[in-house]
Amino acid sequence: VRVAVVGGGQSAEHEVSLASAASVARALDPVKYEAVAFTIGRDGVWCDAERRPFGTSQVDSLAGALHALATCEVVLPLLHGSLGEDGAMAALFELAGLRYVGSPPRAGALAMDKWATKLVAEAVGVRTAPGRLVTAADPVAFERPVVVKPVAAGSSFGVRLVRTEEELRPALLAAFEHDDRVLVEHVVTGREIDIAVLEDPSGTARTGPPLEILIDGPLFDTTTKYDGAARFLIPAPLSDSESTALTTAALRVYTALGCRTLARVDFFLTADGPVLNEVNTMPGMTEASQVPKMFAAAGLSYPDLLDHMIRATLV
Ligand code: DAL
Ligand code: MG
Repeated sequence: VRVAVVGGGQSAEHEVSLASAASVARALDPVKYEAVAFTIGRDGVWCDAERRPFGTSQVDSLAGALHALATCEVVLPLLHGSLGEDGAMAALFELAGLRYVGSPPRAGALAMDKWATKLVAEAVGVRTAPGRLVTAADPVAFERPVVVKPVAAGSSFGVRLVRTEEELRPALLAAFEHDDRVLVEHVVTGREIDIAVLEDPSGTARTGPPLEILIDGPLFDTTTKYDGAARFLIPAPLSDSESTALTTAALRVYTALGCRTLARVDFFLTADGPVLNEVNTMPGMTEASQVPKMFAAAGLSYPDLLDHMIRATLV
């Protein structure tokens, strides 16, 4: 089976995506799969496995890439962030009639939008941090410690913890560099627990063992995410009721957003139960990333996890 492994992309998570894609291409079982690499530049130009552009302009490269993608049985887009994970890429595949692993356009768009995710989650009884949506025109006064984040971004790019009045303005400016809509949320105190959701070929969604993120500092930020300073505890030590509350909430949000095949649903576990942080429809997928580690702990190896995702798509 020829699998188009797509990485890169135009979001701030370009490098993160390249790492996911390279790791996946190495791990795909060579007996079953032929990995065909595609890389999207930061400029949106699609390149082949030798990093040669498919065309001289963005539109030509896209047209060339679509023809090459159509020679594969399935597309595995390891793209994170805007234009990759936000439904735009899924929409392209839908319009081109290509089979692809992962969530359809609407789920990607809703999950990438932290404000929309919040509204959907609250509507199905899953708590989120109290917060408000602001644009650059809205006045924001410092009233309490808050987390300021772009509505649509990933890997914590543009996210800052604001503890003092002086930190507010720079935090807003940093967030507005990534999006014209910004969330100002109350700080949630709790353990960071991630829940992976994976569908089997029959379409039944299951959760993997919960993962706890242990960090030294106050925030699991971009630096902590990728400098190896965070530690993962799998399974997270949880009581049965905590575990049930988290997995129930994860599945409820996954279903309400309309996710498909795979997602990683991130929570804070507070004294009052789970508070949803965010949903990643294409979470980091290097062998050392959370989702592969969670399933490995449950006995599903990294190549088998990828095989599972592809088989669930090809049914
Ligand atoms: N947004 C990054 C890739 C993650 O959630 O793992
Ligand atoms: Mg994310």
